[in-house]
Amino acid sequence: DVVDVAPLTANNLFTFDPGFTSTASCESKITYIDGEKGQLLHRGYSIEELASNSDYLEVCYLLWHGELPTQAQKDAFVSTIKNHTMVHEQLQFFYRGFRRDAHPMAVMCGVVGALSAFYHDSTDIKNPQHREITAMRLIAKMPTIAAMCYKYAVGQPFMYPRNDLTYSENFLHMMFGTPCEESKISPVAARAMDRIFILHADHEQNASTSTVRLAGSSGANPFACIAAGISALWGPAHGGANEAVLNMLDEIGDVSNIDTYIAKAKDKNDPFKLMGFGHRVYKNYDPRASVMRESCHEVLKELGVKDAKLELAMKLEEIALSDPYFVEKKLFPNVDFYSGIILSALGIPTSMFTVIFALSRTVGWISHWNEMIANPYKIGRPRQLYTGETERSFVPVDNRK
Ligand code: ACO
Repeated sequence: DVVDVAPLTANNLFTFDPGFTSTASCESKITYIDGEKGQLLHRGYSIEELASNSDYLEVCYLLWHGELPTQAQKDAFVSTIKNHTMVHEQLQFFYRGFRRDAHPMAVMCGVVGALSAFYHDSTDIKNPQHREITAMRLIAKMPTIAAMCYKYAVGQPFMYPRNDLTYSENFLHMMFGTPCEESKISPVAARAMDRIFILHADHEQNASTSTVRLAGSSGANPFACIAAGISALWGPAHGGANEAVLNMLDEIGDVSNIDTYIAKAKDKNDPFKLMGFGHRVYKNYDPRASVMRESCHEVLKELGVKDAKLELAMKLEEIALSDPYFVEKKLFPNVDFYSGIILSALGIPTSMFTVIFALSRTVGWISHWNEMIANPYKIGRPRQLYTGETERSFVPVDNRK
C-alpha cells in the first residue's frame, strides 16, 4: 500500500513510471526511432543509408551540426578532429595508477572523468565555442584513450595517433601498431570498424544518454557527464551486452547445447537471459542488427576467418526466432548480438567491446548534452512513490527493542 505523501507539488500529481517505459524526458531533434517498424533515423537519415554511404566522422558532423557537411565543411571538421587526437602526456600517469588487470571500462571511466582536470580553458558551458571545442576534443581523443586502455592492459607502449590515417585506421593503428614497425591496416578491417562506430553513434534517450543529460542538467562539467554515461553504459543490460554475448556463446559452446539455453532463457525462475536479444524500444528487428549481421558475414569472408561462434550465433538466432516465446514477446537480436563477433574477428579482446561502444557513442552523448544546454532546461529531478514508514516518534536508544 502507498502511504499518503505531503503535497510537495502544486497539485500533488505526478506519474509513476518505473524504468521510464512511457515517459519522454526531453524534446530532441537528433535521433528518431520507430520501434514497431524497426526504423532508426539520425537527423532524418536512415541508419542503413548512413552505414552504406557515409563514414563515422561525417555522421559525427551530422549529429553535432544537424546537417550533412559540404566537402569543405567536412575537410575542416576532419582537420579539427585530427588537431585534437593527442592526449596530454600527463594523462599517462592516470593509466599507470591502475592495476594492469583492471577492466578497461574501469580505466576509461576514470581517465575520461579526469579530462576535466586538463581543459580549464573551456569550462563555460554557456559559451557555444567552449561547448564545441569540448565536443571536438572528446570525439578526437576517445580512440586514443580507448587504445591506451588496451595497450596498458597488455603491457605494450602507448602509440601516438597518426593524423595521416582515417579515424578508424588510426584507432586500429593505436590498438595493434608497435613502435617497431609501420602499422599495416587492412582496409576491410578499417571499414568494418568504421561501420561499428556509425551503428553505435547515437540512440536517443537510452540509459547512458539519459545519464549524461541528467548529470549535465545540474550544470556539471561535460567531461564528468560523459564519464557518468560511460559508467551507465558498462552494465550488461546496456552496452556491456556485446561482451556478454561472446561470453554466452562461449558458455553454450556447441550447437547441441542451444536448446538447453533457450529453455533456461524461457524459465521464469532462471535469471539467465539470451544476451543480445530484446530491446526496450524495438519490437521488431533492430535495424542496426540487420546491418551488423550483413557486415559480419562480409568481414569474416573477406578476412578469411572461419568462426564457429558465428555459426553458433546464426543457429541460436534461427532457433530463437522460431520459438513462440521469443516471437510473442517480440524479442529480436539487437545490435550487440553481431558486433561482438565482428570485433573478435578483428582481433579485439572481449574486454574492449564496451570501450569501443563508449568511444562510438561519445558523439551521441555530447550532442544530446549540447542540445540540452543550448536550449531552456530544468535540472532533472524525478519524484518517487514513497512506500516507507509514516511519521513516527524518535525512540531513545535505551528504549529500543
Ligand atoms: N531473453 C529471455 N527473455 C527476455 C529477454 C532475453 N534476452 N529480454 C526480455 N525477455 C523477457 C523478459 O523476461 C520479460 O518477460 P515477462 O513479460 O514474462 O516478464 C519480457 O521479455 C519483457 O522484457 P523486459 O526485461 O521487461 O524488457 P525491458 O524493456 O525492460 O528490457 C532489455 C530490455 C534490458 C534489453 C532486455 O531485453 C535484456 O535484458 N536483454 C538482454 C541484454 C541485452 O541484449 N541488452 C542490450 C540492449 S541494446 C543496447 O543497449 C545497445
